[in-house]
Amino acid sequence: MNRLVIGAQWGDEGKGKIVDILTKDADIVVRYQGGSNAGHTVCIDDETFILHLIPSGILHKDKICVIGNGVVIDPKSFLEEKRTLEGLGVEIGERLLISEKAHLVMPYHKEFDALKESSLGDDKIGTTKRGIGPCYVDKHARVGIRICDLLSLDILKKKIETNVEEINKLCDVYGIDRFNHKEIFEEYAEYAKEITPYIRNTVYYLNGVYKNKKKILFEGAQGSLLDIDFGTYPFVTSSNPTVGGAFSGTGLPYKALENVIGVMKAYTTRVGNGPFPSELTDDVGDNIRQKGGEFGATTGRPRRCGWLDLVVVKYAAMLSGMDEIAMTKIDVLDGMDEIKVCTGYEYEGRKIGFIPSQLEEFAKCKPVYKTFEGWDNTKNVESYSDLPDSAKQYIEFIERFLGIPITMISTGSKRNEVITR
Ligand code: IMP
Repeated sequence: MNRLVIGAQWGDEGKGKIVDILTKDADIVVRYQGGSNAGHTVCIDDETFILHLIPSGILHKDKICVIGNGVVIDPKSFLEEKRTLEGLGVEIGERLLISEKAHLVMPYHKEFDALKESSLGDDKIGTTKRGIGPCYVDKHARVGIRICDLLSLDILKKKIETNVEEINKLCDVYGIDRFNHKEIFEEYAEYAKEITPYIRNTVYYLNGVYKNKKKILFEGAQGSLLDIDFGTYPFVTSSNPTVGGAFSGTGLPYKALENVIGVMKAYTTRVGNGPFPSELTDDVGDNIRQKGGEFGATTGRPRRCGWLDLVVVKYAAMLSGMDEIAMTKIDVLDGMDEIKVCTGYEYEGRKIGFIPSQLEEFAKCKPVYKTFEGWDNTKNVESYSDLPDSAKQYIEFIERFLGIPITMISTGSKRNEVITR
């Protein structure tokens, strides 16, 4: 089956581990959106790998990995990641293909990402400062520089010159140092030498392997609620992690997708700003953060933690037509007296079961909870029947609420610490 793994919350759901488990049944793993703002963590034996741009499938030595056209690529961070992986013994060789249509993150994108954030003050989005938003802005303004431009240095030089001229006008307005187009060109011409061997027309490549019935695994980054169209705008990323992004970000037709797996943490986390009705700002939230290691894999920022919000997950499931749910980190909730789940919101005295589009309205929503008895130990459990009864009640309630089966339950960070049903 060609499958898509997609985050059902605000990112950091544990997609890396689920992709790693499912990769054994795939031939090709493809990233379709986002960039090095992602941080997919995979623990194999005693080694922890954090992948930002390169699909997690690279850790399986016989799989081909594709960075699709919808991804924005910072060549500096790509090359660093590649070297780190090679240093850890991962052989990349010819197993990695980069779309010639993918856009390049430029130094001025990163600078302006940080600048825009500081000018927003308390209203800042809380971006990863990886230049993601400004890079997608250039893409949609039709002035972006693409991976294929690395193949022709004259074109690259001209485009950098033109863009830097425009950017420098903005630098003057903001009163910051101007960029030097020659320096940027020299830097990117160096990157071009190392990146060229990986560049391919991945649209034709992917359609070819699809026709040849190879199995494709789509690896979503970020989460459904960070989607530029459907997320909690403006506190979102600048791409489409939801199902549509998988087609526009690879060039594969919708028929190429047969199964959608939503990854959902047993509780909720969020990095960056924006409303979060079930957020816990007390000791319970701190406890989850410490126990769950809830600190950003890309930025190290502490993640905001709260109870599982099923309004959020149900919305995400609807958007992408999720067929199955993989629940992660259930073991982090071990040892609690009681566990709550948000099943709706109270908004101006009435109960609602949807997320208002107007952010100011969403910010006023108070969670309506159902409370479950806690459980002692789910850590390392590998069979559903060995789970404590109260954990089973929690899981089965969520399945009924969503109307979707929970087919995988992750009970620890290691590959084997998972229940499949
Ligand atoms: P950006 O994608 O860096 O522009 O950040 C926009 C918002 O998305 C911020 O709230 C980030 O914290 C959030 N974000 C971006 N990437 C991730 C991710 O991989 N996991 C969780 N949050 C993310």
